[in-house]
Amino acid sequence: MRGLFVVFEGVDRSGKTTQLQLLADRMAAKHEVVVTREPGGTPVAEAIRVLLLADDVDMSARCEALLFAAARADHVERIIRPALERGAVVVSDRFVDSSLAYQGVARGLGVEDVERVNLWATDGLVPDLTIMLDLPITHSTARDGEADRMENEGELFQARVRRGLLDLAARAPQRYAVIDAAHSIDEVADMVWAALPEQWR
Ligand code: TYD
Repeated sequence: MRGLFVVFEGVDRSGKTTQLQLLADRMAAKHEVVVTREPGGTPVAEAIRVLLLADDVDMSARCEALLFAAARADHVERIIRPALERGAVVVSDRFVDSSLAYQGVARGLGVEDVERVNLWATDGLVPDLTIMLDLPITHSTARDGEADRMENEGELFQARVRRGLLDLAARAPQRYAVIDAAHSIDEVADMVWAALPEQWR
């Protein structure tokens, strides 16, 4: 595929949405950039998102994992692949690794099983680069502001997510940039920029 697929991952409140937007704005000077997010990105996936994040909905862990994967299947087929095929840069707020860390590790479903389901859902699409914004879990990371259903899981859950994400990055370091999100917004933005393949900068 001709385009570039960049994914931002991180624990809740790692500043990834801000950084993603800064990168997208900067890349838009030279490239077509499609900014998207998970769960979401298409009408069906956004509807599934509402169901997944509502704090008054209770569901089994497998149901949760399949809904994230279902939303992702639609997102990949309708938005991400077509954009990559026409040579665009796709920047996504979360992708498969979120399912591996949240559902596979933190919920305890197992990385291998969740990965198998997602391999099918995405028809094997793998990001070219994943920017992992890392931050220690604190009380405020887990609870400040308006919390959705996942954020309400608390610090221990968030700590398992963080560990899960770091382990995924360690598994294939050439496809990841792990960045310390405790630096200033400008400093982090520069580190993100430096992580891009040179021909795309
Ligand atoms: P969102 O409001 O987008 O949070 P954030 O700004 O932290 O990305 O909500 C997405 C939530 O869903 C977030 O807590 C992570 C979780 N999630 C999963 O558990 N599995 C997944 O596959 C994805 C994509 C997200």
